[in-house]
Amino acid sequence: MIFSVLIPAAGSGERLGSSMSKALIEIGGEAMFLRAAKPFLRFAGCQEVVIAAPARDLSEFEQHAQRLADPRVRVIPGGATRQESVERALEASSKTCDALLVHDAARPFITDSLIASVLDGLRDCSASLPGLPLKDTIKLVEDEGEFVEHTLPRDRLYAAQTPQAIRAELFREAHSLALNDRWTATDDVALIEHYHLGNVRIVPGSEGNFKITTPEDLRRAQQLVAQASGS
Ligand code: C5P
Repeated sequence: MIFSVLIPAAGSGERLGSSMSKALIEIGGEAMFLRAAKPFLRFAGCQEVVIAAPARDLSEFEQHAQRLADPRVRVIPGGATRQESVERALEASSKTCDALLVHDAARPFITDSLIASVLDGLRDCSASLPGLPLKDTIKLVEDEGEFVEHTLPRDRLYAAQTPQAIRAELFREAHSLALNDRWTATDDVALIEHYHLGNVRIVPGSEGNFKITTPEDLRRAQQLVAQASGS
């Protein structure tokens, strides 16, 4: 299967308490977005990796990306929301692939086996994503956020991770419908679900593939890399 990878990397470092773009923060001496992008390049079916970066830091992202010395990697300006960044990367991507894989720059511990399992999950359906069963019981709260409406059945709830793989023609259709309706979601397969464009398979996610959002997440990431390098 020929696929293009879209890496939304245009988020700020606000929730991390950082003034620099989150995806430029180095983990083990390497910018977070490069760590998130590199494993995909090892797959023969990967025809390109399009990175959506904050417009103000475009040249810095490009300088980092050049270290990969791989013509399949491109940096483009992202948008004001994650969905807008994905939309722009989708626009900039080649129209000749079978599938699109969207992966958050903020998940730098992605493994080859997780990518392989998401790709395999796509074999007979519209989209596929890694999910982790929830440990906590989840309460749905009424609008004002003060009272519980009801409790959701935990055995059917999963935390969605990336990479999310979606058949190319369906993803393009879903994005154009969402653009028209101004409908937004916080992940990619939600567009396929919302427009009833076919089955979305969930494959086992990985605790290691966590998203770096808070200063604690960043510390955990730095520790993991330090332990792995024995320092
Ligand atoms: O903010 P959140 O953690 O959900 O962001 C997930 C991913 O989306 C991150 O990799 C971030 O860089 C990216 N993003 C983006 N454009 C935005 C906001 C977030 O590419 N405007």
